[in-house]
Amino acid sequence: MLVTFRRKRPCFHFLLLFSTILSSFSSGHAGVTSAYIRSEWPSVDIPLDNEVFAVPEGHNIPQQVHITQGDYDGKSVIISWVTPDEPGPRKLQYGKSKDYKLSADSTVTNYTFYKYNSGYIHYCLLNALEYSTKYYYKIEARDSSREFWFQTPPRIHPDAPYTFGIIGDLGQTYNSLSTLQHYKQTGAQTVLFVGDLSYADQYKYNNIGVRWDSWGRFIEPIAAYQPWIWTAGNHEIEYMPDLGELTTFKNYLHRYPTPHAASKSSSPLWYSVRRASAHIIVLSSYSPFVKYTPQWMWLREELQRVNREITPWLIVLMHAPIYSSNVGHYMEGESMRSVFESWFVQYRVDFVFSGHVHAYERSYRMSNIHYNVTSGDRYPVPNKAAPVYITVGDGGNREGLAAKFWDPQPDYSAFREASYGHSTLEVHNRTHAIYRWNRNDDGKSIPTDSVVFHNQYWASNLRRRRRGG
Ligand SMILES: *[C@@H]1O[C@H](CO)[C@@H](O)[C@H](O)[C@H]1NC(C)=O
Ligand SMILES: *[C@@H]1O[C@H](CO)[C@@H](O)[C@H](O)[C@H]1NC(C)=O
Ligand SMILES: *[C@@H]1O[C@H](CO)[C@@H](O)[C@H](O)[C@H]1NC(C)=O
Ligand SMILES: [Fe+2]
Repeated sequence: MLVTFRRKRPCFHFLLLFSTILSSFSSGHAGVTSAYIRSEWPSVDIPLDNEVFAVPEGHNIPQQVHITQGDYDGKSVIISWVTPDEPGPRKLQYGKSKDYKLSADSTVTNYTFYKYNSGYIHYCLLNALEYSTKYYYKIEARDSSREFWFQTPPRIHPDAPYTFGIIGDLGQTYNSLSTLQHYKQTGAQTVLFVGDLSYADQYKYNNIGVRWDSWGRFIEPIAAYQPWIWTAGNHEIEYMPDLGELTTFKNYLHRYPTPHAASKSSSPLWYSVRRASAHIIVLSSYSPFVKYTPQWMWLREELQRVNREITPWLIVLMHAPIYSSNVGHYMEGESMRSVFESWFVQYRVDFVFSGHVHAYERSYRMSNIHYNVTSGDRYPVPNKAAPVYITVGDGGNREGLAAKFWDPQPDYSAFREASYGHSTLEVHNRTHAIYRWNRNDDGKSIPTDSVVFHNQYWASNLRRRRRGG
Protein backbone atom coordinates (compact mmCIF):
# COMPACT_ATOMS: atom_id res chain seq x y z
CA MET A 1 0.00 0.00 0.00
CA LEU A 2 1.80 3.06 -1.23
CA VAL A 3 -0.13 6.22 -0.57
CA THR A 4 0.88 9.26 -2.52
CA PHE A 5 -0.57 12.67 -1.83
CA ARG A 6 -0.52 15.56 -4.17
CA ARG A 7 1.50 18.59 -3.23
CA LYS A 8 -1.32 20.35 -1.47
CA ARG A 9 -1.48 19.02 2.07
CA PRO A 10 -4.38 16.68 2.73
CA CYS A 11 -6.77 18.01 5.33
CA PHE A 12 -6.37 16.81 8.86
CA HIS A 13 -9.65 14.94 8.98
CA PHE A 14 -8.76 12.95 5.93
CA LEU A 15 -5.49 12.04 7.63
CA LEU A 16 -7.35 11.01 10.77
CA LEU A 17 -9.48 8.68 8.69
CA PHE A 18 -6.38 7.44 6.93
CA SER A 19 -4.64 6.73 10.23
CA THR A 20 -7.60 4.64 11.32
CA ILE A 21 -7.20 2.59 8.16
CA LEU A 22 -3.48 2.33 8.83
CA SER A 23 -3.96 1.14 12.37
CA SER A 24 -6.36 -1.53 11.20
CA PHE A 25 -3.55 -2.70 8.95
CA SER A 26 -1.06 -2.50 11.74
CA SER A 27 -2.89 -5.02 13.90
CA GLY A 28 -2.14 -7.60 11.22
CA HIS A 29 1.41 -6.19 10.85
CA ALA A 30 1.32 -5.97 7.12
CA GLY A 31 4.43 -3.90 6.56
CA VAL A 32 4.96 -2.05 3.31
CA THR A 33 8.06 -2.33 1.18
CA SER A 34 7.67 0.40 -1.36
CA ALA A 35 8.55 -0.56 -4.90
CA TYR A 36 9.08 3.07 -5.86
CA ILE A 37 12.40 3.68 -7.59
CA ARG A 38 13.30 7.30 -8.08
CA SER A 39 15.54 8.44 -10.90
CA GLU A 40 18.53 9.73 -9.02
CA TRP A 41 21.51 11.78 -9.91
CA PRO A 42 24.79 10.01 -9.41
CA SER A 43 25.60 10.56 -5.75
CA VAL A 44 28.66 12.70 -6.30
CA ASP A 45 29.74 15.70 -4.30
CA ILE A 46 29.06 19.10 -5.79
CA PRO A 47 32.37 20.65 -7.00
CA LEU A 48 33.86 23.26 -4.71
CA ASP A 49 33.53 26.04 -7.29
CA ASN A 50 29.73 25.60 -7.46
CA GLU A 51 27.66 28.58 -6.32
CA VAL A 52 26.15 26.57 -3.40
CA PHE A 53 29.55 26.83 -1.72
CA ALA A 54 30.19 30.45 -2.72
CA VAL A 55 32.37 32.43 -0.32
CA PRO A 56 30.74 35.78 0.47
CA GLU A 57 32.68 38.55 -1.24
CA GLY A 58 35.00 40.87 0.61
CA HIS A 59 37.89 40.61 3.03
CA ASN A 60 37.31 38.32 6.00
CA ILE A 61 33.51 38.31 5.61
CA PRO A 62 31.67 36.02 8.07
CA GLN A 63 30.59 32.71 6.52
CA GLN A 64 29.12 29.37 7.61
CA VAL A 65 26.55 31.07 9.82
CA HIS A 66 24.39 28.65 11.77
CA ILE A 67 22.27 28.70 14.90
CA THR A 68 21.17 26.20 17.52
CA GLN A 69 19.17 26.34 20.74
CA GLY A 70 21.30 27.80 23.54
CA ASP A 71 19.52 26.69 26.71
CA TYR A 72 17.07 24.13 28.09
CA ASP A 73 13.81 25.95 27.32
CA GLY A 74 14.34 27.87 24.07
CA LYS A 75 14.95 31.39 25.39
CA SER A 76 18.46 31.58 24.05
CA VAL A 77 20.28 30.89 20.82
CA ILE A 78 23.89 30.09 19.99
CA ILE A 79 25.02 31.76 16.77
CA SER A 80 28.22 30.53 15.17
CA TRP A 81 30.20 31.72 12.15
CA VAL A 82 33.67 31.60 10.66
CA THR A 83 35.92 34.45 9.59
CA PRO A 84 38.54 33.05 7.23
CA ASP A 85 41.53 35.40 7.48
CA GLU A 86 41.69 36.95 10.92
CA PRO A 87 39.67 36.89 14.14
CA GLY A 88 38.08 40.13 12.94
CA PRO A 89 35.32 42.01 14.75
CA ARG A 90 33.69 39.93 17.45
CA LYS A 91 30.59 42.03 17.63
CA LEU A 92 27.11 40.84 16.78
CA GLN A 93 24.14 43.19 16.86
CA TYR A 94 20.59 41.97 17.26
CA GLY A 95 17.11 43.07 18.16
CA LYS A 96 13.42 42.82 17.38
CA SER A 97 13.83 45.23 14.48
CA LYS A 98 16.63 46.19 12.17
CA ASP A 99 17.69 49.03 14.48
CA TYR A 100 19.61 46.33 16.33
CA LYS A 101 19.26 47.75 19.82
CA LEU A 102 21.23 44.93 21.47
CA SER A 103 24.70 43.56 20.97
CA ALA A 104 26.84 40.65 22.10
CA ASP A 105 30.47 39.64 21.71
CA SER A 106 31.61 36.30 20.38
CA THR A 107 34.29 34.01 21.70
CA VAL A 108 36.72 32.82 19.06
CA THR A 109 38.57 29.56 18.58
CA ASN A 110 40.75 27.99 15.89
CA TYR A 111 42.33 24.58 15.47
CA THR A 112 44.43 22.49 13.14
CA PHE A 113 43.54 19.15 11.56
CA TYR A 114 46.58 17.49 10.03
CA LYS A 115 48.04 20.41 8.05
CA TYR A 116 44.76 22.26 7.66
CA ASN A 117 44.34 25.44 9.72
CA SER A 118 40.77 26.34 10.45
CA GLY A 119 39.41 29.83 10.11
CA TYR A 120 38.37 31.72 13.23
CA ILE A 121 35.25 30.09 14.62
CA HIS A 122 32.98 32.41 16.55
CA TYR A 123 30.26 31.48 19.04
CA CYS A 124 27.86 33.99 20.43
CA LEU A 125 25.17 33.26 23.01
CA LEU A 126 22.05 35.42 22.87
CA ASN A 127 20.29 35.16 26.21
CA ALA A 128 16.94 36.10 27.71
CA LEU A 129 15.09 36.28 24.42
CA GLU A 130 11.33 36.60 24.26
CA TYR A 131 9.26 33.66 23.10
CA SER A 132 7.47 33.63 19.72
CA THR A 133 9.44 36.63 18.53
CA LYS A 134 11.32 37.39 15.35
CA TYR A 135 14.87 38.60 15.98
CA TYR A 136 17.15 40.13 13.40
CA TYR A 137 20.90 39.86 13.72
CA LYS A 138 23.86 41.43 12.01
CA ILE A 139 27.40 40.10 12.04
CA GLU A 140 29.92 42.88 11.61
CA ALA A 141 32.95 42.76 9.36
CA ARG A 142 35.45 45.55 8.76
CA ASP A 143 34.07 46.74 5.43
CA SER A 144 30.56 45.34 5.45
CA SER A 145 28.27 43.11 7.44
CA ARG A 146 25.80 40.28 6.95
CA GLU A 147 22.20 40.23 8.20
CA PHE A 148 19.95 37.32 9.13
CA TRP A 149 16.94 36.61 11.34
CA PHE A 150 15.34 33.82 13.35
CA GLN A 151 12.07 33.18 15.13
CA THR A 152 12.09 32.05 18.77
CA PRO A 153 9.81 29.13 19.68
CA PRO A 154 6.61 29.52 21.70
CA ARG A 155 6.79 29.30 25.48
CA ILE A 156 7.02 25.70 26.76
CA HIS A 157 3.41 24.56 26.94
CA PRO A 158 1.69 21.17 26.49
CA ASP A 159 -0.45 22.43 23.62
CA ALA A 160 2.14 24.59 21.87
CA PRO A 161 2.01 23.67 18.18
CA TYR A 162 5.35 23.30 16.44
CA THR A 163 6.77 21.69 13.31
CA PHE A 164 10.08 19.88 13.33
CA GLY A 165 11.99 18.64 10.30
CA ILE A 166 14.13 15.54 10.53
CA ILE A 167 17.19 15.24 8.28
CA GLY A 168 20.06 12.75 8.43
CA ASP A 169 23.25 11.74 6.63
CA LEU A 170 23.16 14.85 4.48
CA GLY A 171 26.60 15.25 2.86
CA GLN A 172 27.11 17.70 -0.01
CA THR A 173 25.93 16.08 -3.26
CA TYR A 174 23.24 17.14 -5.73
CA ASN A 175 20.91 14.81 -3.81
CA SER A 176 21.77 16.62 -0.57
CA LEU A 177 20.88 19.89 -2.27
CA SER A 178 17.57 18.43 -3.42
CA THR A 179 16.80 17.39 0.18
CA LEU A 180 17.48 20.94 1.42
CA GLN A 181 15.34 22.44 -1.35
CA HIS A 182 12.45 20.13 -0.46
CA TYR A 183 12.90 20.80 3.23
CA LYS A 184 12.60 24.55 2.61
CA GLN A 185 9.12 24.06 1.12
CA THR A 186 7.71 22.25 4.16
CA GLY A 187 7.53 25.22 6.54
CA ALA A 188 9.20 23.29 9.35
CA GLN A 189 10.67 25.48 12.10
CA THR A 190 13.61 23.51 13.52
CA VAL A 191 15.79 20.74 12.12
CA LEU A 192 16.38 17.64 14.22
CA PHE A 193 19.60 16.46 12.61
CA VAL A 194 20.32 12.78 13.26
CA GLY A 195 24.05 12.71 12.49
CA ASP A 196 26.59 12.43 9.65
CA LEU A 197 26.89 16.04 8.57
CA SER A 198 29.47 16.80 5.89
CA TYR A 199 31.10 13.47 4.96
CA ALA A 200 34.34 15.49 4.85
CA ASP A 201 36.12 12.46 6.33
CA GLN A 202 35.86 10.80 2.90
CA TYR A 203 38.52 13.23 1.68
CA LYS A 204 42.26 13.17 2.10
CA TYR A 205 44.51 15.42 4.08
CA ASN A 206 43.68 19.13 4.03
CA ASN A 207 40.51 18.62 2.03
CA ILE A 208 38.87 17.21 5.15
CA GLY A 209 38.90 20.67 6.72
CA VAL A 210 38.07 22.30 3.38
CA ARG A 211 34.93 20.14 3.00
CA TRP A 212 33.82 20.96 6.55
CA ASP A 213 34.03 24.60 5.49
CA SER A 214 32.13 24.06 2.23
CA TRP A 215 29.39 22.17 4.11
CA GLY A 216 29.02 25.08 6.52
CA ARG A 217 28.38 27.38 3.58
CA PHE A 218 26.08 24.81 1.95
CA ILE A 219 23.63 24.69 4.88
CA GLU A 220 23.82 28.41 5.76
CA PRO A 221 20.71 29.43 3.74
CA ILE A 222 18.65 27.33 6.21
CA ALA A 223 20.88 26.98 9.27
CA ALA A 224 21.37 30.76 9.73
CA TYR A 225 17.59 31.24 10.02
CA GLN A 226 16.43 28.31 12.13
CA PRO A 227 18.11 26.10 14.71
CA TRP A 228 19.52 22.71 13.89
CA ILE A 229 19.61 20.34 16.86
CA TRP A 230 22.80 18.35 16.36
CA THR A 231 23.44 14.63 16.85
CA ALA A 232 26.89 13.14 16.16
CA GLY A 233 27.25 10.29 13.64
CA ASN A 234 30.12 7.97 12.78
CA HIS A 235 31.40 10.38 10.11
CA GLU A 236 32.00 12.92 12.87
CA ILE A 237 34.42 10.62 14.77
CA GLU A 238 37.40 11.23 12.44
CA TYR A 239 39.85 9.14 14.40
CA MET A 240 42.75 9.25 11.91
CA PRO A 241 45.96 7.97 13.46
CA ASP A 242 47.66 7.92 10.04
CA LEU A 243 47.36 11.70 9.96
CA GLY A 244 48.30 12.02 13.60
CA GLU A 245 44.72 12.93 14.48
CA LEU A 246 43.85 10.99 17.62
CA THR A 247 41.27 13.33 19.14
CA THR A 248 37.81 12.13 18.22
CA PHE A 249 35.04 14.45 16.96
CA LYS A 250 37.58 17.28 16.58
CA ASN A 251 36.15 19.07 13.53
CA TYR A 252 32.56 18.52 14.67
CA LEU A 253 33.01 19.73 18.23
CA HIS A 254 34.86 22.88 17.18
CA ARG A 255 32.16 23.88 14.71
CA TYR A 256 28.82 22.70 16.09
CA PRO A 257 28.40 23.67 19.75
CA THR A 258 25.41 22.34 21.70
CA PRO A 259 23.85 23.61 24.97
CA HIS A 260 24.78 20.46 26.87
CA ALA A 261 25.50 22.14 30.22
CA ALA A 262 21.91 23.42 30.37
CA SER A 263 20.71 19.83 30.66
CA LYS A 264 23.46 18.93 33.18
CA SER A 265 25.34 16.84 30.63
CA SER A 266 29.12 16.58 30.89
CA SER A 267 29.53 16.26 27.10
CA PRO A 268 28.31 18.17 24.04
CA LEU A 269 27.70 14.77 22.41
CA TRP A 270 24.62 13.98 24.53
CA TYR A 271 22.16 16.51 25.92
CA SER A 272 18.57 17.56 25.76
CA VAL A 273 16.46 20.59 24.98
CA ARG A 274 12.81 21.45 25.49
CA ARG A 275 11.09 23.28 22.68
CA ALA A 276 7.39 24.21 22.47
CA SER A 277 5.63 20.97 23.58
CA ALA A 278 8.56 18.60 23.00
CA HIS A 279 11.37 17.27 25.15
CA ILE A 280 14.17 16.23 22.81
CA ILE A 281 16.92 13.92 24.03
CA VAL A 282 20.08 13.61 21.92
CA LEU A 283 22.23 10.50 22.40
CA SER A 284 25.66 9.59 21.04
CA SER A 285 25.89 6.17 19.39
CA TYR A 286 29.70 6.51 19.38
CA SER A 287 30.36 7.41 23.00
CA PRO A 288 30.29 4.96 25.91
CA PHE A 289 26.70 4.20 26.95
CA VAL A 290 26.77 0.95 28.92
CA LYS A 291 25.77 0.88 32.57
CA TYR A 292 27.68 3.33 34.84
CA THR A 293 29.15 5.39 31.98
CA PRO A 294 28.51 9.17 32.05
CA GLN A 295 26.02 8.96 29.18
CA TRP A 296 24.06 6.16 30.88
CA MET A 297 24.01 8.04 34.19
CA TRP A 298 22.96 11.26 32.52
CA LEU A 299 20.12 9.61 30.57
CA ARG A 300 18.81 7.92 33.72
CA GLU A 301 18.60 11.34 35.41
CA GLU A 302 17.27 13.18 32.39
CA LEU A 303 14.40 10.73 31.85
CA GLN A 304 13.30 11.48 35.41
CA ARG A 305 13.33 15.21 34.66
CA VAL A 306 10.93 14.78 31.73
CA ASN A 307 7.55 16.22 32.67
CA ARG A 308 4.89 15.10 30.20
CA GLU A 309 2.37 17.46 31.80
CA ILE A 310 4.51 20.31 30.39
CA THR A 311 6.22 18.71 27.38
CA PRO A 312 4.00 15.83 26.28
CA TRP A 313 6.12 14.85 23.25
CA LEU A 314 9.19 12.84 24.16
CA ILE A 315 11.61 12.47 21.25
CA VAL A 316 14.97 10.70 21.20
CA LEU A 317 17.61 11.31 18.51
CA MET A 318 20.54 8.98 17.87
CA HIS A 319 22.59 8.07 14.84
CA ALA A 320 22.57 4.27 14.58
CA PRO A 321 19.01 2.87 14.41
CA ILE A 322 17.79 0.30 16.91
CA TYR A 323 15.13 -1.16 14.62
CA SER A 324 16.19 -1.38 10.97
CA SER A 325 15.57 -4.19 8.49
CA ASN A 326 18.02 -2.83 5.94
CA VAL A 327 20.98 -5.00 4.94
CA GLY A 328 23.26 -1.96 5.35
CA HIS A 329 24.61 -1.55 8.91
CA TYR A 330 22.33 -4.38 10.06
CA MET A 331 22.16 -4.72 13.87
CA GLU A 332 24.75 -2.02 14.59
CA GLY A 333 22.25 -0.47 17.01
CA GLU A 334 21.81 -3.73 18.88
CA SER A 335 24.24 -2.86 21.67
CA MET A 336 22.40 0.38 22.43
CA ARG A 337 19.04 -1.42 22.17
CA SER A 338 20.05 -3.86 24.87
CA VAL A 339 21.01 -1.01 27.20
CA PHE A 340 18.28 1.62 26.61
CA GLU A 341 15.22 -0.01 25.05
CA SER A 342 13.54 -0.88 28.36
CA TRP A 343 13.82 2.77 29.46
CA PHE A 344 12.27 3.95 26.18
CA VAL A 345 9.30 1.68 26.89
CA GLN A 346 9.11 2.53 30.59
CA TYR A 347 9.07 6.27 29.86
CA ARG A 348 6.74 5.88 26.87
CA VAL A 349 8.98 7.69 24.39
CA ASP A 350 6.97 8.88 21.39
CA PHE A 351 9.62 8.68 18.67
CA VAL A 352 13.19 7.54 18.27
CA PHE A 353 14.65 9.15 15.14
CA SER A 354 17.93 7.94 13.70
CA GLY A 355 19.98 7.98 10.49
CA HIS A 356 23.07 5.98 9.46
CA VAL A 357 21.21 3.62 7.10
CA HIS A 358 20.78 5.46 3.79
CA ALA A 359 17.12 4.68 3.32
CA TYR A 360 13.79 5.36 4.99
CA GLU A 361 12.03 3.06 7.45
CA ARG A 362 9.28 3.40 10.08
CA SER A 363 8.44 0.76 12.69
CA TYR A 364 5.27 -0.19 14.50
CA ARG A 365 5.16 0.09 18.28
CA MET A 366 7.12 -3.04 19.14
CA SER A 367 9.60 -3.96 21.82
CA ASN A 368 12.04 -6.72 22.61
CA ILE A 369 12.65 -6.29 26.32
CA HIS A 370 11.71 -9.64 27.82
CA TYR A 371 14.77 -11.56 26.75
CA ASN A 372 17.62 -12.16 29.14
CA VAL A 373 20.52 -14.59 28.75
CA THR A 374 18.64 -17.19 30.77
CA SER A 375 15.20 -17.19 29.16
CA GLY A 376 12.36 -15.01 27.98
CA ASP A 377 10.77 -13.86 24.76
CA ARG A 378 13.46 -13.50 22.08
CA TYR A 379 11.37 -11.63 19.52
CA PRO A 380 10.05 -8.10 19.14
CA VAL A 381 6.39 -8.17 20.17
CA PRO A 382 3.65 -5.52 19.78
CA ASN A 383 3.85 -3.12 22.72
CA LYS A 384 1.64 -0.03 22.97
CA ALA A 385 4.09 1.62 25.36
CA ALA A 386 7.00 1.35 22.90
CA PRO A 387 8.27 4.21 20.74
CA VAL A 388 7.96 4.33 16.98
CA TYR A 389 11.45 3.96 15.49
CA ILE A 390 12.11 5.99 12.37
CA THR A 391 15.26 5.88 10.23
CA VAL A 392 15.82 8.96 8.09
CA GLY A 393 19.35 8.33 6.82
CA ASP A 394 18.27 9.37 3.35
CA GLY A 395 19.63 12.94 3.17
CA GLY A 396 21.64 12.18 0.03
CA ASN A 397 25.35 11.86 0.77
CA ARG A 398 28.04 10.55 -1.62
CA GLU A 399 27.81 6.96 -0.39
CA GLY A 400 24.48 6.52 -2.19
CA LEU A 401 21.38 4.60 -1.11
CA ALA A 402 21.20 1.44 0.99
CA ALA A 403 18.86 -0.26 -1.45
CA LYS A 404 18.68 -3.80 -0.04
CA PHE A 405 16.23 -4.76 2.69
CA TRP A 406 15.98 -8.17 4.35
CA ASP A 407 13.12 -10.33 3.17
CA PRO A 408 10.59 -11.15 4.34
CA GLN A 409 9.91 -7.77 5.90
CA PRO A 410 10.05 -8.30 9.68
CA ASP A 411 6.90 -7.73 11.75
CA TYR A 412 8.27 -4.58 13.37
CA SER A 413 8.75 -2.81 10.03
CA ALA A 414 5.75 -0.73 8.93
CA PHE A 415 7.08 1.10 5.89
CA ARG A 416 10.43 1.07 4.13
CA GLU A 417 11.79 2.56 0.95
CA ALA A 418 15.25 3.35 -0.38
CA SER A 419 14.82 6.89 -1.71
CA TYR A 420 16.26 10.23 -0.69
CA GLY A 421 14.14 12.53 1.45
CA HIS A 422 13.42 13.99 4.87
CA SER A 423 10.60 13.91 7.45
CA THR A 424 8.45 16.44 9.24
CA LEU A 425 6.66 16.16 12.56
CA GLU A 426 3.83 18.63 12.92
CA VAL A 427 2.76 18.73 16.56
CA HIS A 428 -0.81 20.05 16.89
CA ASN A 429 -1.39 19.89 20.61
CA ARG A 430 -0.81 17.52 23.53
CA THR A 431 -2.64 14.62 21.90
CA HIS A 432 -2.12 14.82 18.13
CA ALA A 433 0.81 15.11 15.74
CA ILE A 434 1.06 14.51 12.01
CA TYR A 435 4.17 12.80 10.86
CA ARG A 436 5.22 12.75 7.19
CA TRP A 437 8.10 11.38 5.19
CA ASN A 438 8.79 13.48 2.10
CA ARG A 439 10.60 11.77 -0.74
CA ASN A 440 12.75 13.96 -3.00
CA ASP A 441 10.71 13.41 -6.09
CA ASP A 442 11.90 15.26 -9.13
CA GLY A 443 10.89 18.85 -8.61
CA LYS A 444 7.90 18.15 -6.37
CA SER A 445 7.40 17.61 -2.69
CA ILE A 446 5.26 14.50 -2.29
CA PRO A 447 4.76 13.00 1.15
CA THR A 448 4.70 9.25 0.85
CA ASP A 449 4.28 8.00 4.38
CA SER A 450 1.90 10.02 6.56
CA VAL A 451 0.57 8.98 9.93
CA VAL A 452 -1.35 10.75 12.68
CA PHE A 453 0.29 9.86 15.97
CA HIS A 454 -1.40 10.04 19.34
CA ASN A 455 0.75 11.16 22.21
CA GLN A 456 2.07 8.27 24.31
CA TYR A 457 1.31 10.03 27.58
CA TRP A 458 -1.79 12.17 27.02
CA ALA A 459 -3.71 10.09 24.53
CA SER A 460 -3.63 7.03 26.75
CA ASN A 461 -4.39 9.09 29.88
CA LEU A 462 -7.40 10.68 28.21
CA ARG A 463 -8.64 7.25 27.17
CA ARG A 464 -8.24 6.04 30.73
CA ARG A 465 -10.10 9.06 32.06
CA ARG A 466 -12.94 8.56 29.58
CA ARG A 467 -13.29 4.97 30.75
CA GLY A 468 -13.49 6.35 34.28
CA GLY A 469 -10.29 4.59 35.34
C1 LIG B 1 45.08 30.42 15.91
O1 LIG B 1 45.26 31.74 15.45
C2 LIG B 1 46.39 32.39 15.97
C3 LIG B 1 46.35 33.86 15.56
O2 LIG B 1 46.23 33.97 14.16
C4 LIG B 1 47.65 31.68 15.50
O3 LIG B 1 48.80 32.31 15.98
C5 LIG B 1 47.59 30.25 16.00
O4 LIG B 1 48.69 29.51 15.52
C6 LIG B 1 46.29 29.57 15.61
N1 LIG B 1 46.17 28.33 16.33
C7 LIG B 1 45.92 27.19 15.74
C8 LIG B 1 45.80 26.00 16.64
O5 LIG B 1 45.77 27.10 14.53
C1 LIG C 1 14.60 -13.79 32.55
O1 LIG C 1 13.40 -13.86 31.77
C2 LIG C 1 12.42 -14.75 32.29
C3 LIG C 1 11.25 -14.79 31.31
O2 LIG C 1 10.77 -13.52 31.01
C4 LIG C 1 11.98 -14.27 33.67
O3 LIG C 1 11.04 -15.18 34.22
C5 LIG C 1 13.21 -14.22 34.57
O4 LIG C 1 12.82 -13.68 35.84
C6 LIG C 1 14.27 -13.34 33.97
N1 LIG C 1 15.48 -13.41 34.78
C7 LIG C 1 16.08 -12.32 35.26
C8 LIG C 1 17.29 -12.59 36.12
O5 LIG C 1 15.70 -11.19 35.01
C1 LIG D 1 -5.82 18.11 19.37
O1 LIG D 1 -6.05 18.35 17.99
C2 LIG D 1 -6.91 17.39 17.40
C3 LIG D 1 -6.96 17.66 15.91
O2 LIG D 1 -7.12 19.02 15.65
C4 LIG D 1 -8.27 17.42 18.06
O3 LIG D 1 -9.11 16.44 17.46
C5 LIG D 1 -8.09 17.09 19.54
O4 LIG D 1 -9.31 17.16 20.21
C6 LIG D 1 -7.10 18.08 20.16
N1 LIG D 1 -6.82 17.64 21.52
C7 LIG D 1 -6.84 18.49 22.53
C8 LIG D 1 -6.52 17.91 23.87
O5 LIG D 1 -7.09 19.68 22.40
FE1 LIG E 1 26.41 6.90 9.60
